[in-house]
Amino acid sequence: QYIIIIYHKRGTTWTQEIVDLLLHNGDAKACMRAPTVQRIPFLEIQAPPPIPSGLELLGSMKPPRVIKTHLPIQLVPEGFWKNKCKVIYVARNAKDNLVSYYHFDRMNLTQPEPGPWDEYIHKFMRGKLSWGSWYDHVKGYWQEREKRNILYLFFEDLKEDPRREVERIMRYMDLSVSDDVIDKIVQLTSFKVMKDNPMANYTFLPKAVFDHSISAFMRKGEVGDWTNHFTPAQSQMFDEDYARQMADVDIPFRTSI
Ligand code: A3P
Repeated sequence: QYIIIIYHKRGTTWTQEIVDLLLHNGDAKACMRAPTVQRIPFLEIQAPPPIPSGLELLGSMKPPRVIKTHLPIQLVPEGFWKNKCKVIYVARNAKDNLVSYYHFDRMNLTQPEPGPWDEYIHKFMRGKLSWGSWYDHVKGYWQEREKRNILYLFFEDLKEDPRREVERIMRYMDLSVSDDVIDKIVQLTSFKVMKDNPMANYTFLPKAVFDHSISAFMRKGEVGDWTNHFTPAQSQMFDEDYARQMADVDIPFRTSI
């Protein structure tokens, strides 16, 4: 089985769509059989209906199963590693990740209110958000990626050259689809198409859960939107803290492409 592990707000839904399409040889109709959360169980979720419990859904599915989780590496169930599950990890630069998370917390009415932007930056820096510290999350998987054969991807690379990245995912999954199918998958998983796909854009959830009138789930899908949010002073303060928290690793994040 395949596992997609991604910290909140960095292309989980996008990667889920790519993986599902690869497994269905680019068949758009097959991948519109149900909303994302019903096609790919969200391991740790216990949410109100219509989101199914991740574990229950998982129990009712046949292999090859794809599982979504946001868990940090130390909480990943041991069985995943023992059974040699394929793990696809997607990372996104901290500032864009933070911005995306902020807007998501505004529209996701099941999460705590994000509060003022300036305070939110500090919450992010201290890891005081659901699923914990961004810094520990990206580092944990980065340090284990070779030993555990994790495919470590970047949101920015997906944006820059989706075809190249879809092919990387395909090879990692030991699949082989034709060039035409790859082209189709790239097109079907473009931001524009996914934004209008009711089975991928989360509009199936009631307004009391995700309120898209506050901020759409498929919000912008860009690299560098942080420049529209951080003041120069906030950016400097964030960068200084970032340098301290990330001093022990050299992960090639890009804040622009
Ligand atoms: P923004 O808020 O920056 O727009 P997740 O699925 O992990 O919750 O991540 C959501 C983020 O991925 C949102 O970022 C969303 O717009 C973006 N996204 C989703 N599908 C995308 C696609 N096909 N292309 C580019 N970005 C996409």
